[in-house]
Amino acid sequence: MHPSPPSPQHLANHRERVDALRIAVGKGLAGRTRITLEIGSGHGHYLTGFASAHPERFCVGIDLLLDRYERSERKRSRASLENLVFFRADAADFLTVLPPETEIEDVLVLFPDPWPKRRHHKNRLIQTGFLTRLARHVRLGGRLYFRTDDAAYFAASRATVGAHPAWQFETSAHPWPFELPTVFQQRAASYDSWIARRVVRLS
Ligand SMILES: C[S@@+](CC[C@H](N)C(=O)[O-])C[C@H]1O[C@@H](n2cnc3c(N)ncnc32)[C@H](O)[C@@H]1O
Repeated sequence: MHPSPPSPQHLANHRERVDALRIAVGKGLAGRTRITLEIGSGHGHYLTGFASAHPERFCVGIDLLLDRYERSERKRSRASLENLVFFRADAADFLTVLPPETEIEDVLVLFPDPWPKRRHHKNRLIQTGFLTRLARHVRLGGRLYFRTDDAAYFAASRATVGAHPAWQFETSAHPWPFELPTVFQQRAASYDSWIARRVVRLS
């Protein structure tokens, strides 16, 4: 069964959200040429720790959910960090409005929603089309760090990334950029990670 196409109202609401996001991102990233991005930053716990440990980096966290975004903002404000910003945004929309002069240095995807049912796999973040879009904004040599406690998503994501020409796996010896258990990591019995490097120019 094919999903029904989005209604005109839905499309208009989406356009409005993207326009508002473009303004917020334009202001928040003004003058920034390089960022570290966490997609699905949840409550902002991990990225606040990362930004505090790495003042030389400008860190950007995005999450779809309003309450998670608001909690992240409160953490950022309590920590008075000038190298950290959060946006309430869908990852694809964020890439649409990211200014062309702002390059992504590294991307972290930590414990993304696993969408375990087969009919929901299309909602997973790690898909060929998204990897291509992401690659257009990540500098050559930049890295994508992925961690999950869902074995099936781990295997599927590795297969998708392994088949993508713009990404190449690092060896297991490559260091993780910053270790601090995320909220979902604290609840996980075990987890696995991979790191992929951005390679080759895309036309
Ligand atoms: C399972 S939680 C993990 C949160 C955090 N990374 C952690 O490890 O504690 C996944 C998060 O990704 C967010 N998310 C899911 N799809 C997203 C998308 N397309 N763009 C941005 N955030 C998304 C969800 O709102 C949720 O907060």
